[in-house]
Amino acid sequence: TEAIPTIYKGLAGVVVDTTAISKVVPETNSLTYRGYAVQDLAAHCSFEEVAYLLWHGELPTPAQLELLCQRERAARRADRSLLSLLAKMPDNCHPMDVVRTAISYLGAEDPAEDDNSPSENLAKALRMTAVLPTIVAADFRRRRGQDPIAPHSHLGFAENFLNMCFGEVPDPAVVTAFEVSLILYAEHSFNASTFAARVVTSTLSDIYSAVTAAIGALKGPLHGGANEAVMHDMLEIGDPDRAEEWLLGKLAAKDKVMGFGHRVYKNGDSRVPTMKAALHDVAAATGGEKWVRMYDILEKAMAGATGIAPNLDFPTGPAYYLMGFDVEMFTPMFVMSRITGWTAHIIEQGASNSLIRPLSEYSGVPQRSVVA
Ligand code: SDX
Repeated sequence: TEAIPTIYKGLAGVVVDTTAISKVVPETNSLTYRGYAVQDLAAHCSFEEVAYLLWHGELPTPAQLELLCQRERAARRADRSLLSLLAKMPDNCHPMDVVRTAISYLGAEDPAEDDNSPSENLAKALRMTAVLPTIVAADFRRRRGQDPIAPHSHLGFAENFLNMCFGEVPDPAVVTAFEVSLILYAEHSFNASTFAARVVTSTLSDIYSAVTAAIGALKGPLHGGANEAVMHDMLEIGDPDRAEEWLLGKLAAKDKVMGFGHRVYKNGDSRVPTMKAALHDVAAATGGEKWVRMYDILEKAMAGATGIAPNLDFPTGPAYYLMGFDVEMFTPMFVMSRITGWTAHIIEQGASNSLIRPLSEYSGVPQRSVVA
């Protein structure tokens, strides 16, 4: 009998390609985008600067940033046909289905959809990055029975999104915390949604198809959907004093506790301390100390019971909730950020020009004939 090859389920631990976009170092618990520590970027840069860095490999000069911002602000408006398509979406369909459909529509209406040249794909990446907040904010308000608010070209990326959702720019601490979450969510090497985008790109399909595939992957609760699951759990717990009992019950039932664990980080997610500080700032600005207390109790109980540390979705859930967002919008907001990392990888994969097609080991019935 043939020797059965080693099978790497879930590609766990398998290095399938190189990337120059980001580096995740579990040993030192660090993450760098194009060589810059993500903590530094979150402390000193705007999301627009980080987007430029991911796409171009360098932080922008003032002139390059000015040009990027002009182009991004000019591309924020969702045209009437797209808005009317979104208005036709079923009232309570999943918001990730709205985002996935919107990107698919943008591709269908783009006459240059199949032009995969790097310069064209950069322009498409910027267009998608600019219009996604308009789509997400319009859907957020539609679900509340409110009319959409048009984008304002005098507001920055983060401020403009918050204004399109709530009709005003909130407390600076909230704006900063939101911008930090966008920077921390932007890129994370070959995570499932990014790898999905690379697989689609490897067949020479178009960037919209690759992003649509990535959105489908990110929706899952084991991936991007975890930030919504975290908040649903916290709301279910209700009172911080019930948190430990709830967690131990989940573990006893062999359920996964959303917001904890990671395929790559085994001693804690390098992004959590920065987002936890942002959560504290938002809680202080909005009177949300209760959720910080619940966060601390859950983190401590999980560490004691399993040694498993939180991932980025854990602090982000309550932070977005305290900013006033409905929980179902949390993963679409993850898309607004990760579109930058996905499109950087799509451009990188497009240049490598190698079809992604692994092997499988057959485990079915032995060969047999059709009885005539
Ligand atoms: C993101 O890949 C990325 O980089 C993703 C991301 C990004 O930026 O793109 O970082 C964003 O998706 C963060 C992860 C969000 N997902 C969740 O919070 C969902 C809950 N987490 C788990 O489902 C899990 O930790 C994964 C899926 C994230 C990682 O799982 P692995 O590496 O496949 O590990 P595993 O599921 O095999 O767990 C190993 C052991 C298991 O115990 P045994 O079955 O071997 O006895 O640890 C246990 C698991 O049961 N475990 C958990 C747990 N995570 C792992 N037990 C309870 N709760 C958890 N959350």
